[in-house]
Amino acid sequence: MTANSSELEKESNPSIVSISELSRHVGEAVTLRGWLYNKRSSGKLHFLEVRDGSGICQCVVFKGGVSPELFEAVGHVQQETSLEVTGTVAEHGKLKGTFELQATNVRVINAVSREYPISPKEHGTDFLMDHRHLWLRSKRQHAIVRVRHAIIKAVRDFFDGRDFTLVDAPIFTPNACEGTSNLFETDYHGDPAYLTQSGQLYMEAGAAAFGKAYCFGPTFRAEKSKTRRHLAEFWMVEPEVAFMDLDGDMKLAEEFLAFIVGRVLETRREELKVLERDTTVLERSVPPFPRITYAEAIKILQENGHPEAKIGDDFGGDEETVISNKFDRPVIVHRYPLDLKAFYFAKDATDPKLALNMDVLAPEGYGEIIGGGQREDSLERLEAAIDAHKLPREAFEWYLDLRRYGSFPHAGFGLGIERSVAWICGLPHVRETIPFPRMLNRLAP
Ligand code: 4AD
Ligand code: MG
Repeated sequence: MTANSSELEKESNPSIVSISELSRHVGEAVTLRGWLYNKRSSGKLHFLEVRDGSGICQCVVFKGGVSPELFEAVGHVQQETSLEVTGTVAEHGKLKGTFELQATNVRVINAVSREYPISPKEHGTDFLMDHRHLWLRSKRQHAIVRVRHAIIKAVRDFFDGRDFTLVDAPIFTPNACEGTSNLFETDYHGDPAYLTQSGQLYMEAGAAAFGKAYCFGPTFRAEKSKTRRHLAEFWMVEPEVAFMDLDGDMKLAEEFLAFIVGRVLETRREELKVLERDTTVLERSVPPFPRITYAEAIKILQENGHPEAKIGDDFGGDEETVISNKFDRPVIVHRYPLDLKAFYFAKDATDPKLALNMDVLAPEGYGEIIGGGQREDSLERLEAAIDAHKLPREAFEWYLDLRRYGSFPHAGFGLGIERSVAWICGLPHVRETIPFPRMLNRLAP
């Protein structure tokens, strides 16, 4: 039953196929390579569920169809053993569109050296997170990663299809973008450097160079709180557009989010089914999204169990949940008090206490998944804001150049991939939305 790799290479017949291709080989003899996911036996039959990354296939080993030694040996193969199964492809008797293998041979590539720690029984979250490198093999995690992949592909297709230029932002940065309270500081050849919180400031340079620019990469926040929405390392896509105002920004954000959701519904139905996702809200998430001001959001809070809410309060997860629950699709909240926001926002001309910013809150209690707005384009006002936020002026000199040399109105936003995956998949926590999450108390595996 064992084989070394040179033996495997020599065997060219029958052809090696992946499980996702089985429908094209009905009636043919083929070989699958993968891992044992599950096994059932009943007297004359072994049912091996084999997974190969592209899918899971039931391989039926009939006592009369193989040698007695092989039948006996197959009965002892353990979960996650790597193996090769040869047999004839047949459509499942009852499940149309599902294909199985009538096995004629089974070869173990490598047996497990210990019992696989993740069994079909329930495990605690910490245990599963400690075994994340193995947990990724399970059906639900597999489905989530595939939805994430579809979202990321849609992100790129959307901007590439609208003539945006990809402008990669750096990871090591000399200055903060989103406040100094959650910066990861590192030693950069003797000088302090920060892991990027956002590529935005660089995208503003990109917008001046290319008109429409975007970056997509990992960003870092030393979040001190444990919540279901915060990671220390998360992926963000950030478009920035020259001569676009806040209204244009809101329109771009809603078209973008609807595009992503539409793509997942189009290409990842099977995975959403595995996740038991009710897709009705996703299907409804088409533009226009309702738009409310921050002041209107405060009113919603006051009328819905938060009588203490008042102008000037920032929203946490609870408040966002109450607000977003009032709407049947994502809602855009705009014009927050300037004091609550980062230094770079433009002021509303009709009320200079308000920022020309917007957040998109996902429904079903998920809250903010997009944050952005129109940027301050006056050199003097931007200098004053940097001082007011007690940020070191020298570190921002390069950024101020963007206002010195042909300043221009512009706007953009950032969408967090993990919060989007959480909402679209209907997951209770962001820890399952990224293959290897980094959180307050987790750096491994
Ligand atoms: O609202 P944020 O902080 O905005 C910015 O960083 C802007 N500079 C973006 C821009 O305008 N170019 O973050 C944007 C999004 C949030 O809406 C959220 O989806 C995600 O990034 N995000 C996080 N996701 C997971 N864990 C965290 N700790 C996150 N912090 C922000
Ligand atoms: Mg935000």
